[in-house]
Amino acid sequence: MTDQAPVAPHGAYTGPSRVLSGVQPSGALHLGNYLGALVKFARLQHEIDTFIFVADLHAITVWQEPAALADQTREIAAAYLAAGLDPAKATIFPQSAVPEHAELAWIFQCVARLGWLDRMTQFKEKSGKHKERSSVGLYTYPVLQAADILIYKATHVPVGEDQKQHLELTRDIAQKFNHDFKAPGFFPQPDPLIQGPGARVMSLRDGSAKMSKSDPSDYSRINLTDDADAIAGKIKKARTDPEPLPETLEELATRAEADNLVGIFAALSGRTKAEVLADYAGKGFGAFKPALAELAVEKLAPVGEKMRGLLSDKGELDRILAAGAEKAREVAAPTVAEVKKLVGFWGA
Ligand code: AMP
Ligand code: TRP
Repeated sequence: MTDQAPVAPHGAYTGPSRVLSGVQPSGALHLGNYLGALVKFARLQHEIDTFIFVADLHAITVWQEPAALADQTREIAAAYLAAGLDPAKATIFPQSAVPEHAELAWIFQCVARLGWLDRMTQFKEKSGKHKERSSVGLYTYPVLQAADILIYKATHVPVGEDQKQHLELTRDIAQKFNHDFKAPGFFPQPDPLIQGPGARVMSLRDGSAKMSKSDPSDYSRINLTDDADAIAGKIKKARTDPEPLPETLEELATRAEADNLVGIFAALSGRTKAEVLADYAGKGFGAFKPALAELAVEKLAPVGEKMRGLLSDKGELDRILAAGAEKAREVAAPTVAEVKKLVGFWGA
């Protein structure tokens, strides 16, 4: 495995390894999604059986305009393909087209404990001051995520750092299910694949905030659909400090904005931050930013262009998603049938 060596044991589970991940169709994708998730998906598909879905059931935990949702789903699918996912290798599908996700999520809601969900920091962030007005789905969101993963008995989940806690919950649910229903090794204990300089890309305006689709400033992020001028302009305007780049990672770690830009450079060029520093230590941002802008345009502008091309043929995208959903159901349905037997349902 590129991201994790050696492959960790997955409890008593002895089945095959599988990768699963997904992204919500709830707004424009940005550089954080690309480096934290999409690039890893494309790399992993060559190494291991890979399932990548569009998390539209998760998206509706907050309001989504019905007239726009299907197109948002196609846009994520286009981004997957533009980032290099190949439908001949990876299974690519919309979550809502595999109804077994929701079915398993219900059973998992009866396995997970309230105290576990109470600890989830993402719910606290997303619900903000209006907890009592949030949807119930926003609260149980991580349980559906566990179902997404375990329904395919996925062993590896490439995600950005913000998803770590949801993966811990998934492991707890797998363990409790296996224990309660006396089925040791039925579900694996999936490992998050988080490593690498792109796992936590920060805002270009504030090195202490995550790059996010919900940031009101468009200058805080590079969108995958930004053209070359927009990409270069945003990097040139990115917040920095007046010091030249330092020699060591320890010094870099004390300078959030510089650290972020070096991390982006490293992730886009497939190098480590130390290697980037070896080239740029002692140089100011006057030299570093143009180099980063050039690299970002070279790597990202073609992705946006490819996305636009793919989105002009919705029929082809829909065929890919429908075929992926069919393949996904072939794996998901037997898992749910076995789960229903273990739970003891009539007719199972
Ligand atoms: P979301 O758009 O929140 O559904 O996130 C989709 C994927 O992108 C998840 O794997 C996230 O962990 C990842 N991601 C989101 N924001 C960032 C970021 N700023 N840096 C790295 N990864 C991110
Ligand atoms: N919660 C993830 C996010 O916000 C999206 C997601 C839903 C996911 N189900 C998943 C990621 C299963 C990995 C595996 O980014």
